[in-house]
Amino acid sequence: MDIIDVEHLTFGYAGRDKNQNSKVLDDIGFHINEDESVGIIGANGVGKSTLLKLMVGLLPGYNGTLRIHGTEVKKENLSEIRRRVGYVFQDSDSQLFMNTVYEDVAFAPRNYGMSENEVRRCTMDALRKTQIEDLADRHIYRLSGGQKKLAAIATVLSMGAEILLMDEPSAALDPRNRKQLIKILKELPGIKIIASHDLDFIYDTCERTLLLADGKIVRDERTRELLKQKDVLEAHGLELPLSFRFYPGMQETIFGAGRNDNLV
Ligand SMILES: Nc1ncnc2c1ncn2[C@@H]1O[C@H](COP(=O)(O)OP(=O)(O)OP(=O)(O)O)[C@@H](O)[C@H]1O
Ligand SMILES: [Mg+2]
Repeated sequence: MDIIDVEHLTFGYAGRDKNQNSKVLDDIGFHINEDESVGIIGANGVGKSTLLKLMVGLLPGYNGTLRIHGTEVKKENLSEIRRRVGYVFQDSDSQLFMNTVYEDVAFAPRNYGMSENEVRRCTMDALRKTQIEDLADRHIYRLSGGQKKLAAIATVLSMGAEILLMDEPSAALDPRNRKQLIKILKELPGIKIIASHDLDFIYDTCERTLLLADGKIVRDERTRELLKQKDVLEAHGLELPLSFRFYPGMQETIFGAGRNDNLV
């Protein structure tokens, strides 16, 4: 069953030139089924973040259809949409607004009226998964960039959303935390949509990938097929995932051995 329906979606930011080129997204469409993990890739400024923000109702004024579980993404439905959809901002400072890490991660469960015991359980579980339990009482403004990213990810894990939208989740993470995040995402049920320039991360977490360029979805393919097409990637300002660049002759072996499973 399709959980996310996007049809003829067109969007431009107000205040930009009122001509054709002002459209960031121009008549795009795709459908996402239950439990699919989908990567969104493309050069800087192609509209990856814009697309994610539209899906969680942060940008009003789009044309076309945008439905989650059959519910149209519009002002009147936002509380329902946001209960289902967790969103990790590209910029963690836009995400975190409470005093301490614990308060921020506890915010959503508390907001949904859980008992304080349940709130504590969900919050500690999210902190444990992201391996930042020791930062629970730390003030947000005293965190490093990577710690902020992990806290931002914990705020969406604690709400138990069935759809996760993540904008550059691996940016600022060290290799150990990046690997842990891949593990978390692979174990997590539900839909995951991940925008990233970290194509190795996309390879390891997403079965399907959309490539954006010039306001359009120019490719919508299995990740393992799309990310080995050097020419296509380079034509859109991207490069082969790092692991393929170092082992060109081993590509098939890596794929054949189910690299996806072995990496974590
Ligand atoms: N608030 C805004 N007001 C006006 N224009 C914006 C705004 N936010 C983004 N844009 C423009 O919309 C286009 C798409 O931006 P977006 O942030 O969605 O790109 P992106 O694919 O996420 O890029 P990146 O890879 O750098 O994160 C860009 O041309 C950008 O300059
Ligand atoms: Mg972006």
